Amino acid sequence: MLDLTGKVALVTGGARGIGRAICLRLAAQGADIAILDAGNPAVGEQTKADIEALGRRALFVTGSVTDPEQCDAFVKAALDAFGQVDILVNNAGITRDDLVMRMSLDEWKAVLEVNLFGAFYCTKAVVRPMFKAKRGGRIINMSSVSGQAGQTGQANYSSSKAGLIGLTKACAREFASRAITVNAVAPGFITTELTKDLPAELQEAIRAQTPLGHFGTVDDIANAVAFLASDEAAYITGQVLAVDGGLVMM
Ligand code: NAI
Repeated sequence: MLDLTGKVALVTGGARGIGRAICLRLAAQGADIAILDAGNPAVGEQTKADIEALGRRALFVTGSVTDPEQCDAFVKAALDAFGQVDILVNNAGITRDDLVMRMSLDEWKAVLEVNLFGAFYCTKAVVRPMFKAKRGGRIINMSSVSGQAGQTGQANYSSSKAGLIGLTKACAREFASRAITVNAVAPGFITTELTKDLPAELQEAIRAQTPLGHFGTVDDIANAVAFLASDEAAYITGQVLAVDGGLVMM
């Protein structure tokens, strides 16, 4: 079940947090992993070593999804190293929270550029080799409950994550004839560096609104991604899988 032996997965923002858990989970299922991450290279090198310790091949590239040339170079590096690409997880994401009245244009643009433009650049870079290889493929975009329901103080982030849902559905239609599925995962609140500094009262309020009554873990998200990446999910495309303890029910 969920066997990914012989597959190659590309994970953006894979050095830490949810991305790292996805890398380790896909590697545990048998995939070789390439990571593109703009953060501290030592963190990415550690994740690479941890993947290799699972017996898989790994590639770590420092770079930003905001630069289309770096996205192209990343895909090319993965193809050079592993000869194929089967799975792309557009996971890199940032927040720059502020109320609209106070949000600067830089904060608006920075979030859109990483979360939405970055996913578009990586998708564009990966589809040509996927089409050419005629092996099908999987693209999984990391959306958010904030993109489904909106969140005060997150106009930029909510817009980027809602945009990812549109991108997911458009690409699902465009790539379906090539057996490439495109789906989104919408995490609720997951304990990572991104969320650890949320004010305690906000964390409590979120817990109170979550039917399952607690935050999720990075492994909850990695499990959903592993399923969508697998052969078992071959007939699922254009969907948004909420992994949020029941926070948003649509
Ligand atoms: P994180 O901040 O712990 O990890 C994000 C990773 O992306 C970091 O390794 C960072 O260096 C990398 N990154 C940032 N900008 C980049 C760029 N321009 N190019 C390449 N890499 C870049 O965040 P976390 O919590 O692991 O989030 C991962 C994804 O899940 C994000 O897309 C986030 O929006 C989404 N998400 C997270 C939730 C949470 O509660 N933690 C909830 C809903 C969605």
